[in-house]
Amino acid sequence: MMKRALRLGVNIDHVATIRNARGGPDPDPVRAAKLAANAGADGITAHLREDRRHITDTDITRLASEIDLPLNLEMAATDEMLEIALRHKPHAACLVPEKREERTTEGGLDVAGGFDRLKPFVAALGDAGSRVSLFIEPDPAQLDAALAIGAPVVELHTGSYANLQGAARDAELRRLRDAAAYCDEIGLECHAGHGLTFDNVVPVAAIPQVVELNIGHFLIGEAIFGGLDSTIKRMRALMDKARAEVQGEQSA
Ligand code: PXP
Repeated sequence: MMKRALRLGVNIDHVATIRNARGGPDPDPVRAAKLAANAGADGITAHLREDRRHITDTDITRLASEIDLPLNLEMAATDEMLEIALRHKPHAACLVPEKREERTTEGGLDVAGGFDRLKPFVAALGDAGSRVSLFIEPDPAQLDAALAIGAPVVELHTGSYANLQGAARDAELRRLRDAAAYCDEIGLECHAGHGLTFDNVVPVAAIPQVVELNIGHFLIGEAIFGGLDSTIKRMRALMDKARAEVQGEQSA
């Protein structure tokens, strides 16, 4: 298969949110993961939250054994989550900040401020063979800290970009672009995600140093109207077009 310049990780958490609303087995997030694989996803992302509000331990066990795509486990840096990650050894582990009362992951991980506490988690996950990424704000101080702590990958939080409008959004997009360029300079692999939709994905997909986007809530919600297969295919097409255009500009 042709190597893609920009990977799509499909986050299936909110299939589990809908399932858990009734407590039965449907809809099944593993079925969604398999469908996502056929629709063109490069990886599956799932966040096992401390309160298990969507993805459960059984989902992680099934995802690890039943899907062929790389699994990216989003997790808080806690002993419980580390034990689970070390048991499953996912392809990738993304450390995220987690507050019980938040509706979704608000803000990035403070790697600079939490350096000593986070360092053993990065080391243990890396030693187990998982590709460790840190979900951070597009802030050079956090990037420097990510490099110093030994993480090979960062995921830039696009939530502020997604929520802002007009000039404020443009300014946040510049921060994302600058951070991605800085990743390249210092040798960090750069991913991005949170709050991305058909309407706002193109400028982020066009950042040439970004090699992976992780997208969940919008895809699962939009699938109600368009079906998961065509929703993922449309997102893929938007990402590929944005990337092809930027590569065309660079080689012109
Ligand atoms: N990346 C990370 C690290 C996240 O925590 C999330 C949300 O779970 C996402 C990407 C996907 O965000 P969204 O569901 O808004 O697309």
